Amino acid sequence: MQDPNEVRNSHVQRFQAEPTLFSAPGRVNIIGEHTDYAEGFVMPAAIDFTTVAAISPRTDGRIVIYSLHFAEEVSFDLANLPAKGTHHWSDYPMSVVSVLKSVGVDPVAFSLTFAGDVPLGSGLSSSASVEVAVFLAVASLSARKFAPQEIARLCQRAENEYVGTQCGIMDQFISCCGAKDHALLLDCRDLSFRLAPIPTDVSIVISNTMVKHSHAGGEYNTRRAEVEEGVTILRKHRPEIRVLRDATVDDLAKWGHEMRPSVLKRCRHVVTENNRTVAAADALASGDMKELGRLMAEAHASYRDDFEGSCKEADLMVELANTLPGLIGARLTGGGFGGCTVNLVENGQAAAFAGSLKAAYLKESGITADVYLCHASAAAGPVETA
Ligand code: GLA
Repeated sequence: MQDPNEVRNSHVQRFQAEPTLFSAPGRVNIIGEHTDYAEGFVMPAAIDFTTVAAISPRTDGRIVIYSLHFAEEVSFDLANLPAKGTHHWSDYPMSVVSVLKSVGVDPVAFSLTFAGDVPLGSGLSSSASVEVAVFLAVASLSARKFAPQEIARLCQRAENEYVGTQCGIMDQFISCCGAKDHALLLDCRDLSFRLAPIPTDVSIVISNTMVKHSHAGGEYNTRRAEVEEGVTILRKHRPEIRVLRDATVDDLAKWGHEMRPSVLKRCRHVVTENNRTVAAADALASGDMKELGRLMAEAHASYRDDFEGSCKEADLMVELANTLPGLIGARLTGGGFGGCTVNLVENGQAAAFAGSLKAAYLKESGITADVYLCHASAAAGPVETA
């Protein structure tokens, strides 16, 4: 959890103004990967890694933003704001200014300081947590009120249009709507959701392969394009298929041969993952941890073999987890091509599990992994300092 006092003190020192503070969590996805942009199902939880944004108004017509992480300040003239990102960390906070402007909230001058402890580029949604924390901060200077679902939608749009990552709604949504000690099953078609308590005897252990990814312009967008290609073929036969949510395993069996083999595999992952995610939510709700673990294992295999979104380090991490006592289920979490695995572990075994996994991973890969014992946490909101 990012310490708000650190952000507040830095802000006061730099800008000589008392700020208002907002915090937004990262997330771990328990199951449902690359299904959100197909209007399917996802089941993430917000976690106790956060971004904190501190804001105060200015009178000189400028937006000045300081990142504690990068120890760098950027400054923009209100009369001349950039229309697009420039592949700089400031794209994330500025994307929010831009999207607010697009819905009629005229930019005003402010100073903003932000920092977070969501590991960057690790599949735990550091980007969404920055967007949501900054959104709350900037919106607090206007009279407009936004519902959490609306904030999620706008932050997704900010990332799509300004930063250039064609991400779905999951990360921003869970950051805005997550609940302490709960996972959230989200229907990405209509944004209806259902909370499911994580049993008190289950721990969330997140292990970082230390392989970083970057989604903007990379493999993530390529995979989205492949999925689209598959939909175009299915739609020729069943025009009611607008996105993969509308397709079934039978549709793929009938018309998959018309697709390039890689495209068929991507589509098969998404269609089967949707089914698994709904089944996993039922398993969690009824306390059937064995079934949940089985579905997570199947989801990892599908992510690895059909979606080809894993990497050898994540496969190794999951394989090693499967040999350790107390494991309920393990899989690669997040956008893929590196990042973290999520492990649901029996409480009593969690600390030993974390230690053994780290040691085994070091032995096999030569890499020292960060392993975190996380808790499902509350949604974004204002924070107080001590
Ligand atoms: C990233 C994106 C999400 C989602 C996941 C994959 O985290 O931001 O929208 O597509 O990848 O499930």
